[in-house]
Amino acid sequence: MTTTDLPWPSNTALRAHAKRHEQLQVSELLSADRGRPADFHCHAAGIDLDYSRQLLDVPAREALIALVAETDLASAREAMFEGASINHTEQRAVLHTLLRAQTPPSGLTTEFAEIQQCLQDQQAWVDAVNSGQHRGFEDQPMTDIVNIGIGGSDLGPRMVVQALTPYHQQLQVHFCANIDPADLDTTLSTLNPATTLFIICSKTFSTEETLQNAAAARRWLLAAAPDPSAVAQHFLAVSTNLDAVAEFGIPADNVLPLWNWVGGRYSLWSAVGWSIAFAIGNAGFKQLLAGAQAMDEHFRNTPAADNMPIIMSLLELWSVNYQGGSNQAVIPYDHHLGRLPAFLQQLSMESNGKRVTNDGTTVGYATAPVLWGEEGSNGQHSFHQLLHQGTLLCPVDFILPLTSHSDDKDRHRRLVAHCIAQGQALTQGRDLQASEDSLIQRGTPQDEAKVLAPHLVIPGNRSCSTLTCQQLTPHALGALIALYEHKTFCSGHLWQINAFDQWGVELGKELSANVSEAMQGGTSSGALDTAAQALLERWQQP
Ligand code: F6P
Repeated sequence: MTTTDLPWPSNTALRAHAKRHEQLQVSELLSADRGRPADFHCHAAGIDLDYSRQLLDVPAREALIALVAETDLASAREAMFEGASINHTEQRAVLHTLLRAQTPPSGLTTEFAEIQQCLQDQQAWVDAVNSGQHRGFEDQPMTDIVNIGIGGSDLGPRMVVQALTPYHQQLQVHFCANIDPADLDTTLSTLNPATTLFIICSKTFSTEETLQNAAAARRWLLAAAPDPSAVAQHFLAVSTNLDAVAEFGIPADNVLPLWNWVGGRYSLWSAVGWSIAFAIGNAGFKQLLAGAQAMDEHFRNTPAADNMPIIMSLLELWSVNYQGGSNQAVIPYDHHLGRLPAFLQQLSMESNGKRVTNDGTTVGYATAPVLWGEEGSNGQHSFHQLLHQGTLLCPVDFILPLTSHSDDKDRHRRLVAHCIAQGQALTQGRDLQASEDSLIQRGTPQDEAKVLAPHLVIPGNRSCSTLTCQQLTPHALGALIALYEHKTFCSGHLWQINAFDQWGVELGKELSANVSEAMQGGTSSGALDTAAQALLERWQQP
């Protein structure tokens, strides 16, 4: 796949800028302009983006920003907010922003009213469970919530619940996604059926992993409960597929709706986030929505040059299509944000891991990079080696809450120091002479230092950005997630791909049904290729 040929007028200028940047050093850009950190900076909804360590100068940034007008991003953005059917391969609107809106666009008042009703019902359930008014089959209050779902029905709520650990109230919230029985078995091993409430979270209510785990959870409950009526006390559901939920045996009063105009990976703001509300309470959930809404306002109303999601998307394009970057690392310097990379993997790669444009032609350029990451500072003792000295180009987003919820301010200060230092190390690197000097300072004899020095050289000039917030509150987290959602939208638009479908995951589901049937002696084994057949035979051997 080439990394050129974006169809926009500025493509030629951008390619020239990219060529010129082969001779540029970020460290020189920084030292030549003391105002650069203030200039290469955006603020929105309590979040600050510092992108002064990106290998990008002012003229190249201007050429990137020109893409916004050339591609009429503003109209595409309005179409999303106004509920146009922008997910054209599924004929669906994309309205996760409506889930956190304070007032609806005029054409969306019905949807808005349904959302408000759903929020009220969700809040009532959270109050009833938290207050102990809702009780289980032994007339005890609930102590534990288990969300059973996968993909978008798991990753967002799981990440948020973990991220907001300092805000947890009395209920313990757990997640189970994998069809591997080890997942549910481990989760249930410490729980009491009489005080456990399950949320079966599935937009379609047809996902095999979720339905199998839900059925296993029901068996676990009914092995302890006196009769099947316990299901009504211990099971809630969130879905668009109310018939399938009813068939499973969950009464309508225990079900919150979802709508086809909410994509799974954009759904944590809906009742898919019920587990979040159970964990942090209704007020905290509202703050999460408010943070996202503040970012929506920023995205919708701020000129491109200061628009944080747009700038981050342009940086992604700059790396992927003009600098040959095929990776993007996201490294949160916050232990509780450890699941953020996993959440962003679905958001970014399921949205923009596409190879045909909106009109169905094969793209001539690269699209979404591989996104990965891990909490800092752990990664420093692992993959940061590659970031500093490897041959791959991998820009980094560092995410840094400036103050901690912990009382141990000194240890947190040290964590912040590590984050700041990693940015500088990526920019600055260390040349051969400095490497040799450092060895000599450490007592290495000069002739040995000469031999060893090349191994210590760090080229530097590697791009990174740092996102900061004052503290990781529900509001700040809501804004941060919405920021990445809108960045993803912008990149999909610039690449002319549909960021809202996910046809690529379907083939595996179909083939897995064939394999499963063949394993049970079914007739479809002819559909297996020889390699699959060989593995199946290995599985069948005693
Ligand atoms: O298989 C992919 C996917 O469709 C995701 O897009 C979605 O988030 C996940 O499965 C779960 O789907 P559901 O909520 O319908 O169970």
